[in-house]
Amino acid sequence: MQKSPLSQNTVSITKKIQKSPKYKLIYPKTIQRIVEFNFKKFKDPQKVEQETRKILHQIWGSYFKSKLRYKKILERFKAGIKEKGEKEAVLDLLKIHSSTAERIPVLGEFYSDIFNITGRPQKILDIGAGFNPLTLPWMNLDQAAVYLGSDINQGQINFLKNILTELNLKPKIKLKTKDIFVDDFPKADLAFLLKFLPVVSHQSKADYLKIFQKLKVKNIVTSYPNQSLCGKEKGMINFYKNQIIQFCAKEKFQFKKIPFKTETVYILTKP
Ligand SMILES: C[S@@+](CC[C@H](N)C(=O)[O-])C[C@H]1O[C@@H](n2cnc3c(N)ncnc32)[C@H](O)[C@@H]1O
Repeated sequence: MQKSPLSQNTVSITKKIQKSPKYKLIYPKTIQRIVEFNFKKFKDPQKVEQETRKILHQIWGSYFKSKLRYKKILERFKAGIKEKGEKEAVLDLLKIHSSTAERIPVLGEFYSDIFNITGRPQKILDIGAGFNPLTLPWMNLDQAAVYLGSDINQGQINFLKNILTELNLKPKIKLKTKDIFVDDFPKADLAFLLKFLPVVSHQSKADYLKIFQKLKVKNIVTSYPNQSLCGKEKGMINFYKNQIIQFCAKEKFQFKKIPFKTETVYILTKP
């Protein structure tokens, strides 16, 4: 099917947002997709621009407390490895992204509990990975395993690549800029969509079935935080949990739940 041409307004708003320091390294296809999504809801280009920036903040920017100074962080990290060793130095980095910061208290058992259910994966997709590629030292993957992490910010991906080259990791690791709504993903044993589905519902009608069917994997490992970013909105978190349970019942997906202290993991298996 031929795609309809982009409107002049979509092109100019996308370009304008790409020029802003905060969003200049966001995947252009993501910005453009969200601009188009907002033009379906609003006519006024100014409103579309405003709403697109708001969504970009919700789905990416809000997970960082301060501006990312990658060069400085990398230097500090290299010094940290010498001072206190790899894992301790990585823990400092995990604190930068609120999602991985929350995972620190359960990292010791997180992957072993998941892989006890799924089996040891040989090929993993980590979609909307955030800083989670930095938890690779805790995954204990086989030497022959392949880990493919992706997210929507090129600067972040480059930074993570630089960090991972400093670590003594055995599996094959590839990091790429990818958008779940735009790109295809290779066949794998398992896809991590950790704390990802609430983010999906900010930017599209949350059609989980479409997303899950697109992924050629045996197991989908998704999770929800046990608290919202600001520590409130418990109702919203329960809403998302109920949504996944109802989805599994309707689409006949089997699921197993692992209630960690800071997040609840659901391992879904397609019918
Ligand atoms: C809540 S964070 C979770 C990060 C990581 N999975 C974790 O649990 O630590 C959501 C992540 O999804 C990414 N993201 C948002 N929209 C996306 C999209 N359409 N495609 C791929 N990644 C996306 C964001 O940049 C962000 O890193």
